[in-house]
Amino acid sequence: MLTGLRGVGKTVLLNEFERLAEGRGYFHEHIEVGEDGELPQRLAAAFRRLLLSMDAKRRIGERVHRALGVLKAFNIRLPDGLELNIDVDAVHGPADSGDLATDLAGLFVELGEVARDHDTGVLITVDEVHYVKLATLEALVMGLHRATQLALPITVAGAGLPSLATLTGEAKSYAERVFTFPDIDTLAQDQAREALDLPAADENVQWTDDALDRVVEVTRGYPYFLQEYGKQAWEAAEGPALITLDDVERSIPVATAELDDGFFRVRTGRTSDAERAYLRAMAEIGPGPVRTSDVASLLSKRTTALGPVRDGLLKKALCYSPRWGVIDFTVPMFDSFMKRWIPEVPPFGERTR
Ligand SMILES: Nc1ncnc2c1ncn2[C@@H]1O[C@H](COP(=O)(O)OP(=O)(O)O)[C@@H](O)[C@H]1O
Ligand SMILES: [Mg+2]
Repeated sequence: MLTGLRGVGKTVLLNEFERLAEGRGYFHEHIEVGEDGELPQRLAAAFRRLLLSMDAKRRIGERVHRALGVLKAFNIRLPDGLELNIDVDAVHGPADSGDLATDLAGLFVELGEVARDHDTGVLITVDEVHYVKLATLEALVMGLHRATQLALPITVAGAGLPSLATLTGEAKSYAERVFTFPDIDTLAQDQAREALDLPAADENVQWTDDALDRVVEVTRGYPYFLQEYGKQAWEAAEGPALITLDDVERSIPVATAELDDGFFRVRTGRTSDAERAYLRAMAEIGPGPVRTSDVASLLSKRTTALGPVRDGLLKKALCYSPRWGVIDFTVPMFDSFMKRWIPEVPPFGERTR
């Protein structure tokens, strides 16, 4: 279960896991959770695709029909289960009790057994897990734990922002048995240099040392920024075979503008005036994390009065709360962007755009 800020390479890693699974002849499906946080329906659809492709490739027939029947019963039982086009009779019992953890366990076991009986494995990757509600995440963990206990060849790898729901109690101890929780962060200096240097070397292009150092410095080793600043330096260099510090310096404003218009701005698309004022005040106080009480005093408001604004930012996953009373951006270097975008802290409640 990978966690980290936006643009550090979580999705890239999930794709890599899928590639590894594929290389071993395992079956895999990818789910991206949306802001609605809906997971069971997305899982059901993934299970269906998995079963159908296992059947298509391995001609499993009967066993797959039963599993599809179990899935059908599960789906009918979901609160607003979408019509899954499954052309078999529902099989009642294993996954339609109405208790999500039990039913997911039933599904994981069903699918895991099909995989085991046919000497293959199943990987489900789930991206943007931070949108999933705590109770649903708990059910996922419990369900997967059951299949793990039975040593069935099925697993889930997830990725999400650091705001990922914090599991407690039983769910937590199960989660620690079925998942590891690596923090995905900036690349170390030599890794960041390699990320620029190796692909260029493949094209017989060299970077000067000071050029590499400069890009690593401005990007602080954040993968997405390395990609963007590296690209613009490449474009700015006259070539044919060398990228210099001067090229980098000329490309920095271009890369910054690109990020502002794309990577950063896209996150602010649906923010309200109040939310933008809040974000701008956070940026004023520090790069983050900042205390919500400090944000409130800068905006001349009571902390409680700003509660709904703060909750809106958490819900949109623009911010997360690393601990009580503290808030931080989920996007690296978002403070500098806010300062470029809105030069002064606006009076709270006034139009900012
Ligand atoms: N290990 C890496 N080395 C270099 N660049 C990377 C690496 N991981 C990610 N990137 C770059 O960062 C971009 C964003 O990665 P992504 O996986 O989408 O981030 P996240 O899912 O954490 O928001 C990628 O498209 C790629 O350009
Ligand atoms: Mg991602």
